[in-house]
Amino acid sequence: MLLSRTYICASHFVSQPALVTSRTYIAMRKDLLVGLIVASPLAALAASQAYTWQNVKIGGGGGFVPDVVFNPSEKGLTYARTDIGGAYKLNADDSWTPLLDWVDNARWDYWGVDALATDPVDTSRLYLAVGMYTNYYDPNNGTILISTDYGSTFTASPLPFKVGGNMPSRGMGERLAVDPHSNNILYFGARSGHGLWKSTDYGATWANVTDFPSVGTYAPDPSDPTGIESDLTGIAFVTFDSTSGTSGAATPRIFVGVANEGSDNIFISDDAGATWAAIPGQNNTYLPHKGVLSPDEGVLYISESNGSGPYDGTLGAVWKYNITSGVWTDITPVSGSNLYFGFGGLSVDLQKPGTLMVAALNSWYPDGQIFRSNDSGATWSPLWAYGDYPAINKYYTYSDSLAPWIGPDYTITTAGTLQIGWMMEGLSIDPFDSDHWLYGTGETIYGGHDLTKWDTIHNVTIDSLANGVEETSVQGLISPPTGAHLLSALGDIEGFVHTSLTTPPLASYMNPSWSTTADLDFAGNVPSSIVRIGTGDASTTPQVALSTDGGATWTPDAGAPTDASGGHVSLSANGNTVLWATSGSGVIVSTDMANFSTVSSLPSGAVIASDKKNDTVFYAASGDTFYVSTNSGATFVAAGSLGASTAPVKIVVNPNVTGDIFVSTDKGIFTSTNLGASFTALPGPTEAWAIALGAPATSGAPPSLFAAATINGVVGYYRSDNVGQTWVQINDVAHGFANAASNVISGDPRLYGRVYIGTNGRGIWYGDISGTAIAAGYGQCGGKTGQAR
Ligand SMILES: *[C@@H]1O[C@H](CO)[C@@H](O)[C@H](O)[C@H]1NC(C)=O
Ligand SMILES: *[C@@H]1O[C@H](CO)[C@@H](O)[C@H](O)[C@H]1NC(C)=O
Ligand SMILES: *[C@@H]1O[C@H](CO)[C@@H](O)[C@H](O)[C@H]1NC(C)=O
Ligand SMILES: *[C@@H]1O[C@H](CO)[C@@H](O)[C@H](O)[C@H]1NC(C)=O
Ligand SMILES: *[C@@H]1O[C@H](CO)[C@@H](O)[C@H](O)[C@H]1NC(C)=O
Ligand SMILES: *[C@@H]1O[C@H](CO)[C@@H](O)[C@H](O)[C@H]1NC(C)=O
Ligand SMILES: *[C@@H]1O[C@H](CO)[C@@H](O)[C@H](O)[C@H]1NC(C)=O
Ligand SMILES: *[C@@H]1O[C@H](CO)[C@@H](O)[C@H](O)[C@H]1NC(C)=O
Ligand SMILES: *[C@@H]1O[C@H](CO)[C@@H](O)[C@H](O)[C@H]1NC(C)=O
Ligand SMILES: *[C@@H]1O[C@H](CO)[C@@H](O)[C@H](O)[C@H]1NC(C)=O
Repeated sequence: MLLSRTYICASHFVSQPALVTSRTYIAMRKDLLVGLIVASPLAALAASQAYTWQNVKIGGGGGFVPDVVFNPSEKGLTYARTDIGGAYKLNADDSWTPLLDWVDNARWDYWGVDALATDPVDTSRLYLAVGMYTNYYDPNNGTILISTDYGSTFTASPLPFKVGGNMPSRGMGERLAVDPHSNNILYFGARSGHGLWKSTDYGATWANVTDFPSVGTYAPDPSDPTGIESDLTGIAFVTFDSTSGTSGAATPRIFVGVANEGSDNIFISDDAGATWAAIPGQNNTYLPHKGVLSPDEGVLYISESNGSGPYDGTLGAVWKYNITSGVWTDITPVSGSNLYFGFGGLSVDLQKPGTLMVAALNSWYPDGQIFRSNDSGATWSPLWAYGDYPAINKYYTYSDSLAPWIGPDYTITTAGTLQIGWMMEGLSIDPFDSDHWLYGTGETIYGGHDLTKWDTIHNVTIDSLANGVEETSVQGLISPPTGAHLLSALGDIEGFVHTSLTTPPLASYMNPSWSTTADLDFAGNVPSSIVRIGTGDASTTPQVALSTDGGATWTPDAGAPTDASGGHVSLSANGNTVLWATSGSGVIVSTDMANFSTVSSLPSGAVIASDKKNDTVFYAASGDTFYVSTNSGATFVAAGSLGASTAPVKIVVNPNVTGDIFVSTDKGIFTSTNLGASFTALPGPTEAWAIALGAPATSGAPPSLFAAATINGVVGYYRSDNVGQTWVQINDVAHGFANAASNVISGDPRLYGRVYIGTNGRGIWYGDISGTAIAAGYGQCGGKTGQAR
């Protein structure tokens, strides 16, 4: 199947004037037609409306980039893979273009990219091994996504086992490799004991290499009941020896690293995979992470750690295997008490045989570390060294102009300010340019264009070079009616007041600083009053904070409990009362920063919301029951029923009308105009996740309603301007937003049509209307979007 990234809906009408007549008609009679379509028995699909979709610019990535892969044959051809947000292709100006934005709810697991291979022969071919988890979190088997046009479009080749793009050891590899002499041949190393797999038809079909001697015995924690840490790490890397064999015939010599500790873990075939054996003389104390060929030297370099990564590892080694002599040499850059990390990212400079670099995995204090050698690992020099202890000599100049919030002042751990980075599993020197290098960290992509200065003045530039990579996991979004149009709650990087949607923010929330903000809310009558909650350790830092200046400054809530975090939060209309549905400590409430008290009348896990007009009114929902409080959350009473719902998701309230309520649930969207006393189900949605209200279409009209929902069987993003009587689908085949259930939505109360969608791995998007509504059947986008695959 062809998965086009082209914005079909917009381009369709430009190129096909014949359809303009119907479109114009629909535009003129939109009210009538859209109504008719919903009523018509033939209308299997909802209407649609073209939107422009753009990332809110955070810049700098914002998540783990397990690897950056340069094509060895085509200058400038470079890809990066992420663990939860798809893959990217590098542009000539150092920016990145996302390749998997078409991924929709049906195969949200495609955003977990566990391995990537760029074909050294036919360089337009790109392969991605995708799948999110091998445990029950993800029901899907893995897939090899195959592109013959540099990632513009893909076909999917299903695998008979799972792939874990967001699992431990996702920085090992690459597990996927294309034969440099016979590019129809690929190998993929599986997790979970599924062994080594081979394709001879460009990835279309795969067969188990059943006589490969080891499927891997290592698991980070065999007793982990979730199945995440107990899953067998499996095959670590596949590396062809391009110096063996000749073009047109299968490459004879292939190296495979396997996650075994204390037993053979580096295997070799000399007969194009017919037979395999452990390489003699190897030291298998640690787990192999990377196996990198230095073709001109006839050497395989291997980085090793005593953890599977990406967070762990306190010991490790770097080895050199001389393919000609069969001699192994330990070339570990440091030893003794200086060795308190393993090794991950490893790269050779193909222009300068004998020059290689390796990254620590992980030096958490005082900073990450990278080593470089220009004598095949005999001697090494570091990126920093202690001077007059504890002062550090930094042999680099740091620049974060493309993502100032990452900066030197940004403290990620209490251990120190990690500037160079952590989780550095992907480190790559441009095969065509010895000055150009890139490396992935737990947070961004760094790199530079003056790397050879390491060997001359020993001072290189490290730049944040993740422009275009928007990889955040969005937990919550609000769009208050005053101040900045958007504030975010983000996983791992806290969140921002987005004073601009097109310029990276300068700093995340401060005082208190957390790593993850779980949720935020504003006060309806005083929208510059904002509450946010964190998921950190409440015993050391309060996990509730309040702002009265639109999020510019914050005050930790003096009444914050020392044992509660996470969940969802609501702020009363005047900003006095915080109602907090914590992640494990039930629902609690506090007024004027007094100590929180338990709301015993609500079940734990209840969904909560505040009224935006009446300071004493709060709402909640659990199961099929809606609850109302008229005493500032002190007590709730059961009110109307949400039909057959078993799982309410979100409550939103008309900012201008007390008690005008919408609730999304596993059974659709329910609305009440009488303070929750009774509800009716809106026509259309049969299941809904995030919902939001936005500015009305015309002055005096009801607020527009946005929903991630299933309508007529199609999971998509929809807007209704008439209180849910009719809907238009607003996302398209190029914008699937992956897992609907994990996304958040906010409508802009000041801009009609503007919606913000927060994804789990591809950052925040804003969408604006760019065309008139098209009835189903007239437009290419019409309703089919969610089913394109
Ligand atoms: C995954 O593949 C296995 C082996 O072919 C098969 O039994 C199973 O049904 C597949 N699972 C899914 C969800 O397709
Ligand atoms: C593939 O072969 C290995 C032996 O190399 C075996 O252990 C594994 O179960 C096989 N996996 C599947 C999915 O057939
Ligand atoms: C193997 O490597 C470990 C860790 O680097 C080292 O302690 C050990 O001495 C090595 N064994 C041999 C036989 O070289
Ligand atoms: C690595 O080795 C250290 C020192 O023996 C140990 O404390 C640590 O737990 C090991 N890490 C892993 C992931 O096994
Ligand atoms: C590999 O070993 C061969 C044979 O001993 C030797 O000639 C060659 O220089 C070695 N290569 C490297 C890079 O050390
Ligand atoms: C490297 O250059 C930067 C910028 O000029 C400078 O601040 C830094 O001190 C230099 N590092 C060393 C160790 O001299
Ligand atoms: C090799 O690296 C060392 C240490 O950084 C440096 O002094 C030397 O000039 C380098 N040699 C070359 C040829 O770049
Ligand atoms: C508020 O809680 C703190 C501990 O979190 C406790 O020390 C203090 O006594 C409480 N204050 C009141 C008025 O209960
Ligand atoms: C707010 O709600 C309370 C409780 O229903 C009610 O008594 C009060 O009149 C309301 N206040 C306003 C300003 O509507
Ligand atoms: C709320 O009322 C104000 C004033 O009439 C209006 O400008 C605004 O659009 C309304 N907001 C919504 C979401 O309906």
